[in-house]
Amino acid sequence: MYSKINTCILQGLNGHLIEVETDLSRGMPVFNIVGLPDASIKESKERVRTAIKNSGYDFPLSRITVNLAPANIRKEGSQLDLAIALGILQAMGIVADFNYRNIAFIGELSLDGRLNPVEGVLPIVISLRNFGIKRCVVPYENRDEAAVIEDIEVIPVKSLKQVINYLNGEEEIVPYKSPISFSQEDEIQYDIDFSDIMGQETLRRALEVAAAGSHNILIIGPPGAGKTMAAQRLPTILPSLSFEEAIEVTKIYSISGLLTSKTLIKNRPFRAPHHTASAISLIGGGRIPRPGEVSLAHHGVLFLDEILEFKRDVLEVLRQPIEDEVVTISRVNATITYPSKFMLVASMNPCPCVSNPLDYPSHEIPSRAKSTIPA
Ligand SMILES: Nc1ncnc2c1ncn2[C@@H]1O[C@H](COP(=O)(O)OP(=O)(O)OP(=O)(O)O)[C@@H](O)[C@H]1O
Ligand SMILES: [Mg+2]
Repeated sequence: MYSKINTCILQGLNGHLIEVETDLSRGMPVFNIVGLPDASIKESKERVRTAIKNSGYDFPLSRITVNLAPANIRKEGSQLDLAIALGILQAMGIVADFNYRNIAFIGELSLDGRLNPVEGVLPIVISLRNFGIKRCVVPYENRDEAAVIEDIEVIPVKSLKQVINYLNGEEEIVPYKSPISFSQEDEIQYDIDFSDIMGQETLRRALEVAAAGSHNILIIGPPGAGKTMAAQRLPTILPSLSFEEAIEVTKIYSISGLLTSKTLIKNRPFRAPHHTASAISLIGGGRIPRPGEVSLAHHGVLFLDEILEFKRDVLEVLRQPIEDEVVTISRVNATITYPSKFMLVASMNPCPCVSNPLDYPSHEIPSRAKSTIPA
């Protein structure tokens, strides 16, 4: 009455292979999950119990102990539901024995036994492949994201019942191959274009130089000069992402739950946080650290419009990610590093004393500013 099932959890962008061990024994009917589960995993007890019942099986009236090994890593995320449910079903003898070393299961259960999509499937599948897993069962709606990685079989499933039938050999599921393949020849589509900028030769030249060398750039000009408009068009002249870069960007968007495209992200990200943004939203954080704007802009552009409106402490935290191109966030639970290699584009209005110096006799303009700002 013992079973083992493989699954995976994420810490930042790194996956950890987790063995879900289940034991059913005689005694008072209780359902315990041990191995440092957090609240979202403790809640999975109710989802697992109800999903098993609603898939047409009796939930065992025994003492159920589930151990998430290795027990020293804190686990979070609802993607462990499917592995926990299968562990119980296998210990009950409903699911036939299989070689658990080659296959891993990812998915969140809904109460009627269907599988809901989860966040972070791409980094999970990449980690599983690196751990030598040959086949991965994922929720149907995550199939395109998972199939980006070609050297692992992706089995898309819609419900717990379907997984049971598949493991018992009653239903054949063909490994999913994505119909859309990543090719650099594909034209990237933008709704806007750099050629929309009329005149402004100096600004255009400066943006082209910045784009060519991936330099940071500060645009200073009077209101309505087209600063915001020009900065938004900068990504359209940047080179397209390489396959490796696209994987890195897509992983970050995948764990943030912001993935909208079916396959890899090909456009360079353009992030323009509002000037009321907090330091945490910029560099990332939270109880379970999430990527911030600097990581969401990885391999793309971080645009700080009206940079002087940002709080000083918020601008200060940008110093380290810009220099190191990675940002490390430490929490009690874990220390997580996210990449943050981006082009910083900032805009600001010149001080009003530039155009009307007589109204601001107390303002002293540095000679450098005088030479760069047109009067
Ligand atoms: N060189 C230009 N070519 C085409 N349109 C322009 C140009 N300059 C400004 N515009 C248009 O003028 C409007 C205002 O531009 P934008 O908002 O970019 O100005 P801004 O410099 O950011 O001003 P503010 O300092 O008030 O934020 C936009 O709708 C933009 O389309
Ligand atoms: Mg503007």
